[in-house]
Amino acid sequence: MKTISSKGILFYFIFLISCYASAQSKSERELTLIDKDWRFSFGHLYDTQKDFGHATGYFSYLTKTGFGDGPAATGFDDRAWRKLDLPHDWAVEQSFSEKASYSHGFKTAGKNFPEKSIGWYRKKISIPESDKGKIISLKFDGVFRNSKVFFNGYFLGTEESGYNGFEYDVTAYANYGGENTIVVRVDASMEEGWFYEGAGIYRHVYLQKTNPLHVATNGTYVTLEIKENNAEISAVVTIENKGNYKGQFEILQSIQDASGKEVAVKTENATAPEFYKSSTYTSKLKVQNALLWDIETPNLYRLITQIKQEGKIIDRYETPFGIRTIRFDAEKGFFLNGKPVKLKGTNNHQDHAGIGTALPDELQYYRIKKLKEMGSNAYRCSHHPPTPELLKACDELGMLVIDETRLMGINDYHLNDLKRMIERDRNHPSIFCWSVGNEEWNIEGGIVGERITNVMQGFTKSMDTTRPVTVGISSGFKSGISSVVEIMGYNYLGNGDIDAHRNQFKNQPGMGTEEGSTFATRGVYFTDDAKHYQSAYDKKPRPTFYSIEEGWKFYAERPYLAGMFIWTGFDYRGEPTPYGWPSVTSYFGMMDVCGFPKDNVFYLKSWWGNAPLLHIMPHWNWSGKEGKEIAVWVHSNCDEVELFLNKKSLGKKKMEVNSHLEWKVNYEPGTLEAVGYKNGKKILTEVQKTTEAAENIKLTLDKENVANANVAVVTVEVTDKKGLQVPTANNELTFAIKGGKILGVGNGNPTSLEKDQFFEETELVAITNFEEKKLASAELPNQTSDSENNWKEAFKDRDYKNQAPAYVYRGKFDLKNNSKTNTVNFFYKKIGVNAVVFVNGNKIAPSAEDPEKYVFNAAVLKQGANTIQIIAPPLQKVKEWDVMNTDPGIIQVITPSEPWKRKLFNGYAQIIIQKDENAVEAVLSASAKGLKPQSILVFKKQ
Ligand code: GAL
Repeated sequence: MKTISSKGILFYFIFLISCYASAQSKSERELTLIDKDWRFSFGHLYDTQKDFGHATGYFSYLTKTGFGDGPAATGFDDRAWRKLDLPHDWAVEQSFSEKASYSHGFKTAGKNFPEKSIGWYRKKISIPESDKGKIISLKFDGVFRNSKVFFNGYFLGTEESGYNGFEYDVTAYANYGGENTIVVRVDASMEEGWFYEGAGIYRHVYLQKTNPLHVATNGTYVTLEIKENNAEISAVVTIENKGNYKGQFEILQSIQDASGKEVAVKTENATAPEFYKSSTYTSKLKVQNALLWDIETPNLYRLITQIKQEGKIIDRYETPFGIRTIRFDAEKGFFLNGKPVKLKGTNNHQDHAGIGTALPDELQYYRIKKLKEMGSNAYRCSHHPPTPELLKACDELGMLVIDETRLMGINDYHLNDLKRMIERDRNHPSIFCWSVGNEEWNIEGGIVGERITNVMQGFTKSMDTTRPVTVGISSGFKSGISSVVEIMGYNYLGNGDIDAHRNQFKNQPGMGTEEGSTFATRGVYFTDDAKHYQSAYDKKPRPTFYSIEEGWKFYAERPYLAGMFIWTGFDYRGEPTPYGWPSVTSYFGMMDVCGFPKDNVFYLKSWWGNAPLLHIMPHWNWSGKEGKEIAVWVHSNCDEVELFLNKKSLGKKKMEVNSHLEWKVNYEPGTLEAVGYKNGKKILTEVQKTTEAAENIKLTLDKENVANANVAVVTVEVTDKKGLQVPTANNELTFAIKGGKILGVGNGNPTSLEKDQFFEETELVAITNFEEKKLASAELPNQTSDSENNWKEAFKDRDYKNQAPAYVYRGKFDLKNNSKTNTVNFFYKKIGVNAVVFVNGNKIAPSAEDPEKYVFNAAVLKQGANTIQIIAPPLQKVKEWDVMNTDPGIIQVITPSEPWKRKLFNGYAQIIIQKDENAVEAVLSASAKGLKPQSILVFKKQ
């Protein structure tokens, strides 16, 4: 008998422990991101043939379950479709056109572009045999919009909202131990907003596996009371039972601090809910010496909810939360943790330069940090629920949030969206207010608005009593919504008399949900309507609109107003007021679409921020304007500022709070210098210098930690021979990357019609005029027959009982060009037992990797019409009712990407980069005519 050594026993023991550990972790919830490796193709809004024949079957997916047809069918051949990873916004990939939607940034997608309004996504996943007994679901964070999801040919549901998350249970449909097909048809033909919304699966998708008894979706709710230094926590959990377990289980609630230390724990005994029912359980926990969440120190805690059934942990669910109090006071404004906080807010849409709405998570942090650097402490999600990562960034960085639902109303469409938003988001400490609507012009001033607000407000309270409700109101501040809404949301000083409203509704707190709407082009100091340039000096844009300074002074002076939200923090695509085509982005932002600051940012930094600040505008490159008067503005929070031109004093001026200073200066090149004084002491100097011509490219990485980041933002500038940044430069630069991927490029120019993205194009070319001719023998020849006789439409009236020994088929396909750099693949679909394929008379061998794929090279192809012939002995029907394939397949033409390029706009461009998963390092290089090329290490594995 073999004896086992003590070392062997030890190994065996370790093996047992690791088996147990993996079984243990497997038995808990699994949430896997499935953003990678999707196939994509456009369908068509109303041409069913171009929509791959979807929904045309005698039995389709609404007739009988599992009858998803066209791409919704499991067996659909998507080999020729484009490969991509999520998040994906197909709108941003398109060119611009005057015929496209003004509000959506003139991208040739969606409304009016039926061939670019339906997107199909397909992905295969495997589900192991061992998952039997689990509840398996697909979780979508947001798809724009009107999506239908199919799983293994089964229709799971339609989700109209482009902004809410949704989930489908696929447990019953899964192919355990095999391959499963997820198909999503996205219809972005209709707009939900009057701003750019993107198109496609632009947020994350997850595969979730839980036990039948599990924490329900968004099934925790943490509320608290602070008593002295301690927080008394009420942790409510909803447990759902999708199985047959009847009996007892335990709920283990514990709280961890930011370092992962357990600070409170509680166990509850409970009885499992009935099959397909859920129950709610409350646990009380206490956090001693609680560290509060606030804007400066956003301390977070984590509620860990575990379910124990028969001694085994079967679910684990984490809920990050913060300990803080919020309060609105009709006299004194907003209070966070008992201290008054003036809301210095911005409104924002969700798109960014180069990438549209498909933001990698890192970009959420990038944007929130930029807003914080400006001194902003609050963010309004205009006008829809955001992606979960935005709220995560706000929680972690310390940014207060107004979370807003899309459409006002009292029926399921509206209230279900509101419910999903609140249940998903109510544990975020950053959210201090729910908004149930914005500028609903049809109802806001009347009784209908009043009724709807009452319902939505009450409904909100039924799910969360800890936050108040607001609505952004624009048409007069007298009646309707404004008379019943809990927190009055004033949209613009110019839209009514705020003081009068306040005098009428003395107990109603208020804040400026929108203010500003000023127009400015970054780096532009003279308005030029022909060029669609709006100067960046802060001015009153319209008689009924106010400048940022006027707006802020109004709000700053009134303690009863909790603060204001500027329209907007960042420029966004669409709404290019006061212009139209060819302006494609808005002019409202304090920053442009990339996050490069316009000069108003420095006004806000002066009065919203804490650090001493001095900023001179404009730049000092005014060749041709010698001797002409130029308005020089200084933004500062110093007491006094003295301005010098080439060392000559132009006078010292006193700064008024919440103001700026102005000088009129006759231009001469050289150095403009500002010196700032506080309490009579010189504390800051700032210069603007006339530069020489650009010589060098300067690349700057936004991430401090090159090793840990997955996504980096690179700023591109050019400098003169002394290293001074050239503020007027508009050079076109070309970029290349090794070890990573460029996701998008931008420059903040509202009139730029340059491409946002460069990628290889995948075109699907159909085989047309498909004809056949009978052959007398089943032997496959080595050449084609060129005779024109006896061809007839392929498969028409085929008598399957009396087929010829073989058939020759021929069809045509058109190529726009026959460039050598293109890749042309033919994805054959079986129409015979075996086959030979000829292109323009040349016999083509199948590819090594796939016997049903043929690669056609340029030598056998021509621009324009090409002929394909397939010779094949026919397939025989086994059963009378068998439906035989008559589609020979599809030609795929891949055109390689042009090199990435972008012009600088007034000195700046931006590149967003994602590192390759396995790359050791990533290097970006940039070149431009007449400038020295430059490269930068973007990532390095440590
Ligand atoms: C407001 C509206 C915003 C935006 C803005 C532009 O009326 O709420 O979404 O359209 O005007 O000025």
